[in-house]
Amino acid sequence: MSEKTQRLIDEISQFLAEERRLFGEWDTMSANPRGQSSPPLQPGDCSSLEELRKLCETTDDLKTDLENTRLVFGVGSPKADLMVIGEAPGYHEDKQGEPFVGKAGQLLNKILKAIKFEREEVYIANILKHRPPENRDPSGSERERSLPYLCRQIELIDPKIILCLGRVSATTLLGIDESLSRMRGKFHSYMDRDLAVTYHPAALLRNPQWKRAAWEDVQMVRKRYDQLRGKTH
Ligand code: URA
Repeated sequence: MSEKTQRLIDEISQFLAEERRLFGEWDTMSANPRGQSSPPLQPGDCSSLEELRKLCETTDDLKTDLENTRLVFGVGSPKADLMVIGEAPGYHEDKQGEPFVGKAGQLLNKILKAIKFEREEVYIANILKHRPPENRDPSGSERERSLPYLCRQIELIDPKIILCLGRVSATTLLGIDESLSRMRGKFHSYMDRDLAVTYHPAALLRNPQWKRAAWEDVQMVRKRYDQLRGKTH
């Protein structure tokens, strides 16, 4: 070994010894001094929908007991002024990775069309981003773990109006234990936005007598949407 190389090795060794004296041993997993691991990324740290989607892909917070389910993040315009929020993905949504693509989704598309919205114009998401086993109602823990991710999604999309489909969606966001009939037909305030509640399309398929009330709810939403966007009626 040349003298020059030896001198270089000595200098590097001295440098590393000084580093260890000042900062302790390096944790090679996290590349942080003193063995500290970097704090995990939180939904609130994400500054774009893409970043949030990536976090949703990797976190266990959103998983249900059903194994190997697909992330159903949300679909539609990232700048939508109307955000529609359902309950949880079902079989078809899990297969396609997109919310509301089964029978309930077809009815939702018709409802949106009836109030002159294209599906691509709004943003559609669910309280849960993974399918629960046997399509059961999301548990309290699943809702609680999912909520921070959905709240960040709402902040990033920044809609003027949120439309909750069904009791699970509305009670999770509003944090109240109320019947659907008492929550529908009016606007609530949520994260400084207007939030309306109506029947879930799957419930409407089973109970067509509720369609009139749902029609009134979505017309109320359309009217407020136009008012907020400066259109007059
Ligand atoms: N029901 C929901 O609540 N969400 C879906 O995505 C599909 C059915």
